[in-house]
Amino acid sequence: TIIYAVTPTYYRPVQKAELTRLSHLFRLVPNLFWVIVEDADETSILVRNLINRSGLSHRSVLLHAKTPSDYKLSKKDPHWSKPRGVEQRNLALDWIKRRVKHEPGHGIVYFMDDDNSYSVELFEEMLKIERGRVGVWGVGLVGALNLEKPIVESGKVVGFNSMWRPERPFPIDMAGFAISCDLFMNNPDAAFSYNVQKGYQESEILRKVTTREQLQPLAINQVLVWHTRTEPSKMDNEMKLAKKNLPPSDKDII
Ligand code: UGA
Ligand code: MN
Repeated sequence: TIIYAVTPTYYRPVQKAELTRLSHLFRLVPNLFWVIVEDADETSILVRNLINRSGLSHRSVLLHAKTPSDYKLSKKDPHWSKPRGVEQRNLALDWIKRRVKHEPGHGIVYFMDDDNSYSVELFEEMLKIERGRVGVWGVGLVGALNLEKPIVESGKVVGFNSMWRPERPFPIDMAGFAISCDLFMNNPDAAFSYNVQKGYQESEILRKVTTREQLQPLAINQVLVWHTRTEPSKMDNEMKLAKKNLPPSDKDII
């Protein structure tokens, strides 16, 4: 079984720190293949170097897909005002489908923000996902709850405890599910979309591949992933250096 970890990422001062954390996690997860998609016109030296140094070059691929400017968040926009990762995750899905055609073993796709906090145990749990099914579990620190999770009775998902937009077809965060590759092969139109309401990206992909009744609950009574968000770093002094035409404080470091 291969877990395809799909990570959209974009340049900002904390990017290298986020991707370093993720790459160190992946070094502890043997059966994982990392599909990194930069939100940019081309791949960057920063991300290429990071992958090479991480020892993951033989089990990763670096792609790029720029978010169209109409949909790109600007500095002034609140972070939730536009969907993120649509372009990048769709490209990753196309790449994975092409690969799975030639290597049709059991594969699992997990959409991973570059800024969340993931436990190694989550990936052991994910290996239990059956072919043709979607595994679901709780996510910490999302939806203004300690733990947003599926409600499970006799091994079946009978509901969700979500309090933010609970009317969504699947009121769960992106970090709370992973999908068997078979479902993408059998439902080629499954994709993310710009034409969905805020918070409906997860429902958009899930409704194309599964139903609530078919969900496979995992990691019951555990929290193995947290929806953390990194505070943007203050860069005023770095900007002062630039204004004075002085070299950046990390000159020659890539
Ligand atoms: C929440 C979910 O955790 C996301 O998976 C989901 O895509 C998002 O809501 C949504 O509704 O679109 P949040 O933590 O607020 O996301 O989003 P970010 O972590 O800021 O972005 C999600 C991913 O997209 C990250 O890996 C980030 O690096 C990437 N991203 C973000 C880009 O590639 N380009 C951008 O301009 C912004
Ligand atoms: Mn995030």
